[in-house]
Amino acid sequence: MKKTRIGVLVSGRGSNLQAIIDNIEKGSLSAELAVVISDQADAYALERARKHHIPGVHVSAKGYKGRRDEYDALLVQVLQKHHVELVVLAGFMRIITPTLLKAFPRRVINIHPALLPSFPGLHVQKAALEHGVKFSGCTVHFVDEGMDTGPIIIQAVVPVLDNDTEDTLSARILTQEHKIYSRAIQFFAEGRLQVEGRTVRVRDGADKSGDFLTNP
Ligand code: GAR
Repeated sequence: MKKTRIGVLVSGRGSNLQAIIDNIEKGSLSAELAVVISDQADAYALERARKHHIPGVHVSAKGYKGRRDEYDALLVQVLQKHHVELVVLAGFMRIITPTLLKAFPRRVINIHPALLPSFPGLHVQKAALEHGVKFSGCTVHFVDEGMDTGPIIIQAVVPVLDNDTEDTLSARILTQEHKIYSRAIQFFAEGRLQVEGRTVRVRDGADKSGDFLTNP
């Protein structure tokens, strides 16, 4: 079967990218990494791509302040050049505009380190601790025009412990991010995601995603 070509957008260290690379190399995720794009020249994620012989491209946002849609048009050019079918935002710290969404309708997904719709935006692990929630987690969702508002594909839950700091909670959440993102991409690749309004249903299929189960 032809593998779904994914383009991963990053801004920083790229641990989610690494988990995707590892799952593809292990054979538990059936997708092909077509390109990694970073808005930051020094993102460690680009180094990870290089180590695994994946095309890595820096698309500088310099000069595009207040012209987000023009910047996104550049991203679209690079993604289309690499024949990307699914755009995967993995720690990409920019707001996506309709220019990108129109070029890839229902084909842009994001991972967020909180249980949406609670705690959208930035520094959300700190916000969750300050709010005193007893559980947090992470969410993979389709991207729409709002901020962290699109239909939810998968979530994983982690406890918040009394002695947690922002770092310890972030690390516990990140372990789950590394599992559920590949799982969501695999569902997409198998053509099993059906969006009905805000609800995403995962159609039955030969579920080969046991490796990614968070609560076996
Ligand atoms: C991850 O925790 C991801 O959920 C978060 O940035 C981190 C990137 O880590 N994304 C957002 O906050 C998006 N709003 P990584 O570069 O190691 O994958």
